[in-house]
Amino acid sequence: MSEFQGARPVIWPAKTNHVPKEVFVREDVYEEELRRFFYGNEWNAVCHLAEIPNKGDFKTHAVGRVPLLITHDENDQINVMYNACSHRSNLIETRHRGNRKEFECPYHRWVFNLKGELSATPPSAEYVPGFDKANYPMKKPRTEILHGIVFVTFGADTPPLSEYLGDAVDKIQEVLGGDGNLRLLGYQKVIFKANWKAYGDNDAYHAGLLHTAFRMLNWQGGKGVQWADKRGHRGFYGQLSLPRSTSFLKDPSLIEYRGANFEKGSQSVHLFLMFVAIRHMDSIALRYANPLSVDETETHYVYFGRAEDDESMTQHRIRQSANLLGPCGMVSMEDAAMFHRLHLGSNTPGDAIFQKGVKNEHTLEDTFLQTDESANLPGWIYYRDVMGFAKEQA
Ligand code: FES
Ligand SMILES: [Fe+2]
Repeated sequence: MSEFQGARPVIWPAKTNHVPKEVFVREDVYEEELRRFFYGNEWNAVCHLAEIPNKGDFKTHAVGRVPLLITHDENDQINVMYNACSHRSNLIETRHRGNRKEFECPYHRWVFNLKGELSATPPSAEYVPGFDKANYPMKKPRTEILHGIVFVTFGADTPPLSEYLGDAVDKIQEVLGGDGNLRLLGYQKVIFKANWKAYGDNDAYHAGLLHTAFRMLNWQGGKGVQWADKRGHRGFYGQLSLPRSTSFLKDPSLIEYRGANFEKGSQSVHLFLMFVAIRHMDSIALRYANPLSVDETETHYVYFGRAEDDESMTQHRIRQSANLLGPCGMVSMEDAAMFHRLHLGSNTPGDAIFQKGVKNEHTLEDTFLQTDESANLPGWIYYRDVMGFAKEQA
């Protein structure tokens, strides 16, 4: 991996549990991250099939600054295109979701079908001789679908998705409750005023300390397991312990758990870069995050039920989803303020230091307690290597 050629070098600390704060705030580092990660050899989750279940459904999304258009065509094929006209690159679709038979570019009225093929242009005798519509489809990035989740990559050397995900393949399936046969319940969208890595670094350690409601619900008491791999993917499952009292809740059904497995009452997978699949009690959610700039991260919380749910279960999942772990949810509402404060504080010199679960400052652990922050460190080593930062001598 080539060395980072920024305005000035980033020298990575020798201690494995230290992360230099400047990487959260430097514009030149951010631009290089776009090239090496977002446009590099990583898979990015952009959609679940349940978000576009019908023929003609589409969704737009972005990876870094690259706009994408995802469609469900007449042959039930899923197409991921760059959201740009093949003429002069005008953005083809501006809405987040919808249903349509074709896309007409308003600038010079070129028309594309759901597969991204150019189907019509205004008549013109003055186009380049030999002009053939077949030569001007919308371009497509490499795409794979796993458990209903659509992934794209722009890198030339990205490994196949199942190899890239490794053990996370089965863990995502477990979080989704099976084969990914889900039904969309709704969205919440938020822009965190923080660098994408501050958002992505969110740990399980803070939950019982920062979130008052989490503590009142006694959710920290159970057993749990956390894992992390060398590519920075990580996740956990935790046992649900029942609250000592629910008298502080006007409606205790909010925390009713209809699932059977209390050992794994809470489960999440956090894929590098920032994709989260989470099931907490009966709430199933995917979170897509994307940086808007060095200090802004847009996150879409997408809530799902299972396709076979009855009306009562659907209402239960809707009630539980946003109200517990949404951006304004009872047990996560403090996160946005904390990401912002982390980001503001990162404009000071020195390192962010990980402590909980670190047994040796110079080696990486490979087992983690559920509430250890050390499970974030394999991802930071991977980040450092891909960015090509020189390492300080011990
Ligand atoms: S840019 Fe789309 S038709 Fe010209
Ligand atoms: Fe939190």
